[in-house]
Amino acid sequence: MSHHAIATAAAAHTNNKHLIRWVEKMADLCQPEHIHWVDGSQHEYDLLCGKLVKAGTFLKLNEALWPGCFYARSAPNDVARVEDRTFICSLSKDNAGPTNNWENPFVMRKKLKALFRGSMRGRTMYVLPYSMGPVGSPMSQIGVQLTDSPYVVVNMRIMARIGTPVYGEIDKGEKRVVPCMHTVGAPLSPGQKDVAWPCNDEKYIVHFPETREIWSYGSGYGGNALLGKKCFALRIASNIARDEGWMAEHMLILGVESPDGEKTYVAAAFPSACGKTNFSMLIPPEGFDGWKVWTVGDDIAWIKPDANGKLRAINPEAGFFGVAPGTSANTNPNAMETLARNTIFTNVALTPDGGVWWEGMTDEPPAECLDWRGERWTPLIGRVSGRPAAHPNGRFTAPASQCPSIDSAWEDPSGVPISAIIFGGRRPTTMPLVYQAFNWSSGVYIGATMGSETTAAAGGAIGKVRRDPMAMLPFCGYHMGDYFRHWLRMQRNLTTTPRVFHVNWFRKDKEGNFLWPGYAQNMRVLKWIVDRVRGRALSKETPIGWTPLYEDIEWKGLDFSHAAFDELQNVDRAQWKQEVMGHEELFLALHDHLPAEMIYERELLICRL
Ligand code: GTP
Ligand code: SPV
Ligand code: MN
Repeated sequence: MSHHAIATAAAAHTNNKHLIRWVEKMADLCQPEHIHWVDGSQHEYDLLCGKLVKAGTFLKLNEALWPGCFYARSAPNDVARVEDRTFICSLSKDNAGPTNNWENPFVMRKKLKALFRGSMRGRTMYVLPYSMGPVGSPMSQIGVQLTDSPYVVVNMRIMARIGTPVYGEIDKGEKRVVPCMHTVGAPLSPGQKDVAWPCNDEKYIVHFPETREIWSYGSGYGGNALLGKKCFALRIASNIARDEGWMAEHMLILGVESPDGEKTYVAAAFPSACGKTNFSMLIPPEGFDGWKVWTVGDDIAWIKPDANGKLRAINPEAGFFGVAPGTSANTNPNAMETLARNTIFTNVALTPDGGVWWEGMTDEPPAECLDWRGERWTPLIGRVSGRPAAHPNGRFTAPASQCPSIDSAWEDPSGVPISAIIFGGRRPTTMPLVYQAFNWSSGVYIGATMGSETTAAAGGAIGKVRRDPMAMLPFCGYHMGDYFRHWLRMQRNLTTTPRVFHVNWFRKDKEGNFLWPGYAQNMRVLKWIVDRVRGRALSKETPIGWTPLYEDIEWKGLDFSHAAFDELQNVDRAQWKQEVMGHEELFLALHDHLPAEMIYERELLICRL
């Protein structure tokens, strides 16, 4: 494609010379057949969805049951984030730290150039400008993703602000633009028939933190391909945030409204598939008349001190890319309403009436359906084969604006004030339902030493407890030890620090049953947290932090015994000594970047135990 033709087509959208020159250069490299400048309109969305239906990537769901919804199945080798193929290519290996894969950026660039050369042959390259955060907010950041995946474009239209208003921001020239290269790595030779889900066995998810660039090769799925999400809003943004004195975190944001209208916002970091979406959309159970929980975000928070030294947070996203299995009218009615229309479903089951189903959606599975691979599935086949109908990491992409609990301030350009930070993982043992850190540095220690069982959100083993500091192990774009230091330093710019808590919805009894009913019942814990923040609730000092007494929790509407609560809250000193050994393992790996506070906190904890 000639540069003249590119510049002519570009002129209808942008006058930014740098952007146009970059698109020309990348077109020379990737050799797409066409270039499409994304305007983000409904008309364009409909056109692309129609194209995806024609290509067999999308199936239009039954309009009467699932209005405006589409269904997609990915290739079986492209179903989750690929952490072992994710790289932080900082100039020095030391800056990436021991928790990230690193490659010399010059070597990696060469490798990527070779992979991207001709990678879009026979396809259309979409120029996709997007804003993470409301367009024009001082806390927002801009990226442009060049991608050969129309599936990515339509998902990004739900997940971020894209198109014409963003070209406007770029043309102002006030903000740095993060260039994001993406190809599914499946060029088409003349006449070659495409597959429904093009991708490549070989995958590279690469970040260059110094030049603020992202290059993603070989995958079309989720966090690998929707580059505004984990790649930009966490890995690159964590670098920007460190340099500029703010925080980019893997956190939900919610607001708790009391019966007399008092509003308290909290942010919570739980690892992938550990309950952020559910918690952010919680509906208070019986016994909480007049209480409301409002959703600001379900996955990512950008948090910055305001002029008064209070932390304020925005949700940089515009949609939810949520785990489908386990989502039901019982567990998360707000999510069910959100995804009832204008939603893209990927890797769930398809019912004969043109609807979707997944494990946990209803008590009764459908008599028959097609599973996420497109094969016939019945409850019997499922039992015999041990295969679920939906992939455990099957997801819905739904607009946040459709969420019944969306907060009135969710698009406030200055964000919402954060009064508490909650950490939490999947811990079958050891960790109580809830405890509060003694202060900021002990809170940072609790976040830094967080552990959680691995889930289907990433490739690899499932159910192994690993250290996942602040739920950021796969997402921190620089040395984890420096990240802890950044957290500690944040306090200096604050007049009020948020209170810090740790929760665990996933503790199990000896038979392997969850000790805590979870979901809506988590409101009881959330209310205690809000009461603590507001100086209203009592608590008990333990070696690990402050814990609620049975009487401190609101039990109206739930039959939960004192003894069961004690089992949930139990701090077993022997188990905790083991736990601290696990902390040591991470600290050894980070040793020369580990802030002294972390060592002191660990020593204090050991002494108290
Ligand atoms: P990512 O989108 O991967 O970052 O996940 P997430 O943190 O938003 O997790 P999500 O809310 O989607 O929940 C993941 C899984 O955990 C789902 O299958 C839920 O049904 C389940 N889950 C969520 N909250 C609870 C809870 O309180 N108790 C129990 N037992 N399971 C829960
Ligand atoms: C996660 O894995 O934490 C997700 C899903 O939120 S993905 O967008 O694939 O990263
Ligand atoms: Mn996530």
